[in-house]
Amino acid sequence: MLETIFNHRSVRKYKNKPVDNVLLNEILKAGTRASTTGNMQVYSMIVTIDKIIKEKLWEAHFKQSMVLEAPVHITFCADFNRFNKWCIQRKANPGYDNFLSFFTAAIDALLVSQNVSLAAEAHGLGICYLGTVTYMAGKIIDILSIPQNVVPVAAIVMGYPEEDQGLTDRLPLEGVIHYEKYSDYKKEDIDNIYLEKESSELTASLLKENNKETLAQIFTDNRYTKKDNVYFSKQFLNVIDKQGFMNNKEEDI
Ligand SMILES: Cc1cc2nc3c(=O)[nH]c(=O)nc-3n(C[C@H](O)[C@H](O)[C@H](O)COP(=O)(O)O)c2cc1C
Repeated sequence: MLETIFNHRSVRKYKNKPVDNVLLNEILKAGTRASTTGNMQVYSMIVTIDKIIKEKLWEAHFKQSMVLEAPVHITFCADFNRFNKWCIQRKANPGYDNFLSFFTAAIDALLVSQNVSLAAEAHGLGICYLGTVTYMAGKIIDILSIPQNVVPVAAIVMGYPEEDQGLTDRLPLEGVIHYEKYSDYKKEDIDNIYLEKESSELTASLLKENNKETLAQIFTDNRYTKKDNVYFSKQFLNVIDKQGFMNNKEEDI
């Protein structure tokens, strides 16, 4: 298991080779063994193999080519639809149309997605997450006929790797761990934590390519801008509302 974890790298190019159904089922089953809030399993996975649907997903995912190339695409959803229906059919009154329930279900879905990813990697498959799923959640809901009380929160592509880009860097452990209590970062801590990342060859070439002074500016000015973040926040909040998870007022009780 640790070998699989320590060898993780995102795969963005795939062989034109399908994933066998028995194997895929085992991987999906491994997903369902993840911890889940109250053992409610308030998530669902939408497996897309069909080329025509994948083409629509590719458009939604900013035309990232791996969506077309990889044989399997999985959308992980925060899902209270099934659980609510069960409650109603069993004379129980569900109170899961609020933001906390959305977040609970989103946590469940994300734990499943990571179990599925590791299980796939343990079998020699590659995966890559698609952050575009939350940017384009409304469109993906239409494409996949997702009903009320369900919100897509993660997506991965999966298949046999065509290339190995090697491991990417990580911050040193002391940069992300606090013992006993949170000890806030001093200026020199920030310098030390980011030193290796900032002095890598990759950073040097990115700075040149993007004509920027610092790596942080590539994140703030190019990759994840405030303008985009505000725009997609509004879109996503609308989706969460439309899907029925924003009844948070006292009078909603
Ligand atoms: C939630 C999430 C969304 C991501 N979205 C994308 C994406 O849309 N396109 C992409 O090429 N990689 C995406 N990635 C992959 C990250 O870029 C990658 O995990 C990170 O650069 C670290 O590299 P590694 O996974 O190879 O270790 C995403 C990863 C996560 C966790």
